[in-house]
Amino acid sequence: MEDIVNNYQTSIDLLNDAVRREIASSMQYIYFHIRMEDAGYEYVARYMHKVAIEEMRHVEMLAERILFLGGDVDLNPIEPTRQLHEMEAMFDFAVKLEESTISHYNSASAQCASAGDSVTQRMFQDLAAEEEEHLDNFRNELQNMMEYGQLYLAMQSVGHSKAISKK
Ligand SMILES: [Fe+2]
Ligand SMILES: [Fe+2]
Repeated sequence: MEDIVNNYQTSIDLLNDAVRREIASSMQYIYFHIRMEDAGYEYVARYMHKVAIEEMRHVEMLAERILFLGGDVDLNPIEPTRQLHEMEAMFDFAVKLEESTISHYNSASAQCASAGDSVTQRMFQDLAAEEEEHLDNFRNELQNMMEYGQLYLAMQSVGHSKAISKK
């Protein structure tokens, strides 16, 4: 019985670490969304909003698992939101956030496997796959922005004009 309790504690700690990462990412992307929307970069602002909501959905999934295992949820962000204003700096940081999250989830999944908790292990694997999609999209945005520069930003602004004309 003692072993089972210890196994769950390992998972609960890993899940709470993940919750705190997801909260920090979600807040960071909402911040980017607000800055990008204010700057008139319509399409990418909308994408940031979508990812922020996806991270919040991850919080919910992780939190449900924590409660199921008998733990309590720590909703404090693992780090404060950075007030970045430049598009390149925002994408650059988004890429770093996703890379770091993926690396943590791979390691968490391995630790859950060692602790014999295959359901939490699979949850971390599924989450890592979703974070890889975010990473891929953020990398593409960053690359397009570096390649097309002002043209990329101009196209985002045209998107904004299109969107407000429909309102
Ligand atoms: Fe996430
Ligand atoms: Fe993500």
